[in-house]
Amino acid sequence: MNVIVDTIIFLGKFLYYFLESLVYKIIPKNKKKVSGEIVLITGAGSGLGRLLAIHFAKLGAILVLWDINQEGNMETFRLVKETGDVKVFAYKCDCSNRQEVYRVAGQVRKEVGDVTILINNAGIVTGKPFLDIPDHLVEKSFLVNAFAHFWTCKAFLPAMIKLNRGHLVCISSVAGLVGIKGLSDYSASKFAALGFAESLFLELTMQKKTEIKTTIVCPYLMKTGMFDGCTSKYSFLLPSLEPEYVAKKVLDAILEERVYIIIPKFAYVALILKQIISTKMMIALGEYLGADTFMASFKGREKANELQSEPERKHQ
Ligand SMILES: NC(=O)c1ccc[n+]([C@@H]2O[C@H](COP(=O)([O-])OP(=O)(O)OC[C@H]3O[C@@H](n4cnc5c(N)ncnc54)[C@H](O)[C@@H]3O)[C@@H](O)[C@H]2O)c1
Repeated sequence: MNVIVDTIIFLGKFLYYFLESLVYKIIPKNKKKVSGEIVLITGAGSGLGRLLAIHFAKLGAILVLWDINQEGNMETFRLVKETGDVKVFAYKCDCSNRQEVYRVAGQVRKEVGDVTILINNAGIVTGKPFLDIPDHLVEKSFLVNAFAHFWTCKAFLPAMIKLNRGHLVCISSVAGLVGIKGLSDYSASKFAALGFAESLFLELTMQKKTEIKTTIVCPYLMKTGMFDGCTSKYSFLLPSLEPEYVAKKVLDAILEERVYIIIPKFAYVALILKQIISTKMMIALGEYLGADTFMASFKGREKANELQSEPERKHQ
């Protein structure tokens, strides 16, 4: 009897939410207001993090900028200040260092307040074939791209839980959905970040903390410099993305409180096909799209990995 009642309730909910999602496709949800929200962005010193900081500043948010690269972070600080009368705080923080994350998080709570939107964006890539990656860089990839998300969430989630209010944003990657040749440590760490964010989202939802939102972002190649040298084989199918275009998409996804965003939409096709076609078909598709040559001319950011262990300082 219970099975029948349960199944009817489930089917009712399933149909209701299906219709609800169709309605939201036609009438977009109202965007949430972020004026006065405390937005912390890790890896704010360049690329996507910097652009997101500028967008949030224009919407009246209070910005907390974290980066291991103090020079880049201060440049973002300056650009954010230029947008008008904004409150912005910049901290040097190596997100791969658990003790440093907790210490700087304590400083932020004392000097700025409780973070209400946490954007885990800092990332690194080694870009070498598996056997050429030094062990310490495998560990570093996981520390920056995945473990750092655990430490920042441990630091800022308790205050969100108290108020049942907040937003966790995970910047993963298309490489966190599909393994890419030559990116074994990067792909694996991005899968880990996505898995952590998805799992935490479900945990919070089942605990009825439904006003703590989650957004998981999976972009394809962006022209920020992180993947310098890499090119897309058929740009009409999978174009290298303009960082500003991605930043706007990510901002909209956060404001509309969407859980997943994959950019561009074509990447959804690869994700669905991966589940249903044979491995040989998948490899043929990968070769057609240039997945075998994607990393061949990778240069990346010079010295990006050398920055990883400087001492911490703060600016305001
Ligand atoms: N560029 C791409 O093609 C691409 C594609 C998909 C996903 N992503 C992801 O998007 C995010 C932003 O990338 P981006 O392209 O703007 O790269 P980016 O190199 O411009 O920015 C990354 C920032 O993270 C900072 N950072 C690195 N290690 C850190 C650490 N230990 N502690 C604190 N900060 C640290 C860097 O200093 C830098 O400012 C990353 O997570 C990246 O993996 C990038």
